[in-house]
Amino acid sequence: MVNFLKVAPSTDPVPQEELLSYVRRLNDCADFIHCDVMNKNFVCKDSIDENVIKKIYLKTLLPLDVHLMVNEPLKIVEKYIKAGAQIVTVHYEAFKNKKNLIKCLKLISKNNAIAGIAINPDTEITEVMPYIAYADLVLVMSVFPGLSGQPFKESTYYKVKKLKQIRDDYGAHFKIEVDGGITPEVSKNLKVLGADIIVSGSYIYNAENKAKAIEDLK
Ligand code: DX5
Ligand code: ZN
Repeated sequence: MVNFLKVAPSTDPVPQEELLSYVRRLNDCADFIHCDVMNKNFVCKDSIDENVIKKIYLKTLLPLDVHLMVNEPLKIVEKYIKAGAQIVTVHYEAFKNKKNLIKCLKLISKNNAIAGIAINPDTEITEVMPYIAYADLVLVMSVFPGLSGQPFKESTYYKVKKLKQIRDDYGAHFKIEVDGGITPEVSKNLKVLGADIIVSGSYIYNAENKAKAIEDLK
């Protein structure tokens, strides 16, 4: 079966004053805009919030894939959906009480958005297995969240392979997304292993020709 890999350029490496023109340039060549939200609690960096997401929403034709690197996001997911997010992904590690993770994934789905669960490089798939049933998408972090430009962690390959196997074994339909340090060579391997969406920050941002960079990642 042919696997059409989708590419989601991320907002993290882009200075805020360039962000709106950057997303405009991607209209013809990207599949999603991956919006990296940080508020200095889950990671030490601060980035964009729902007000910036609203501005991005008005500038792009592409669906917004919002990655919330925020602790205890249950109370804020709805405002990101109202701002225009089509995918809302929350971190497994961001919930002290995992019952709130389930509530959060259900709340995202109830608001007709795609519910994603993200896992850090040091979180095992077996640990998140009980929660995957509530998610439409699993985001495998191939770097520690908080900074673009880090090298891809090879241990990600095993996780993607395992998720694909779980999906096949249980007849599940969740999408597999991978985020961090992705180059065309890495992307080729991820595609073979069963990834559906790859996020790319610095590779696309640093490329002169964005359309060609996206094509190379596919
Ligand atoms: C990391 C972010 C990523 C980041 C990826 O905290 O979640 O989305 O922008 O950037 P690269 O591709 O440069 O690793
Ligand atoms: Zn991200």
